[in-house]
Amino acid sequence: MMKSASIGVFDSGIGGLSVWNELIREIPGESMIYLADSANAPYGTKSRSFIVNRSRAITKFLIAQGCMLIVVACNTATGAAISTLRKEFDIPFIGVEPAVKPAALASKTGHIGVLATAQTFKGEHFKRSIKLYSHSVELHEKAGTGLVELIEGGMIDSPETRELLNGYLQPMVEKGIDQLVLGCTHYPFLIPIIREILPAGITIIDPAPAVARHTRKVLEENHALDSGSDDSEYRFYTTGDPLNLKHFLFQLTGEVYEVSSATGLKP
Ligand code: DGL
Repeated sequence: MMKSASIGVFDSGIGGLSVWNELIREIPGESMIYLADSANAPYGTKSRSFIVNRSRAITKFLIAQGCMLIVVACNTATGAAISTLRKEFDIPFIGVEPAVKPAALASKTGHIGVLATAQTFKGEHFKRSIKLYSHSVELHEKAGTGLVELIEGGMIDSPETRELLNGYLQPMVEKGIDQLVLGCTHYPFLIPIIREILPAGITIIDPAPAVARHTRKVLEENHALDSGSDDSEYRFYTTGDPLNLKHFLFQLTGEVYEVSSATGLKP
């Protein structure tokens, strides 16, 4: 891996920015290129082959822009496509999966809630988690159908979002969960609302900080960590409306970033 190359980060839309936001804190010296496939969001209701094809096309696009490592900042794409990407491309890939392990280790009630997309529950990573942990804890899974569309549509704090979340979370609360695993990178943007819905004492688990620490480790192991932070550069591409991504980035960081259309990547 070359030190001057960039890290690619992609998601079906803006959700992966919850991971990017941790990456820029953990490895501030690295340049990054973020790709939001917003024209095709949500991935969670699409077929596995659709997600594999998109992930492959996005990977080619990011490598053509000079990326030497790719963070698949999407649970759905990780579950559906990361094993194919690792077979087909000769660069490291880092994925995001629902953090069932830390939740299982921390749970005192033995009940864990997992909110993720329908496709993530079908993915190989989640199936492995069930095998490993379902003997020690009871997993209460719920697909967050409709949430990604509301987040992508700028309706994070809306009555519709609150209503959906209430319907998804209350049954888990009634089962006695003490850990809620956020299994979709869009959902951390809902944490303030989720906190209002959940009773005190339930821990919300977002895997993004662990993913950022793991990315640092992989860079160190490959002797590719850039320790200087002066020349790092962040670039943003989207298959959707660049103004939407620009606006969301401003809300998230207070900074104005240029966002380009991902021309060359078919919608
Ligand atoms: N943010 C993604 C995830 O982590 C994708 C959600 C979607 O597009 O349905 O699963």
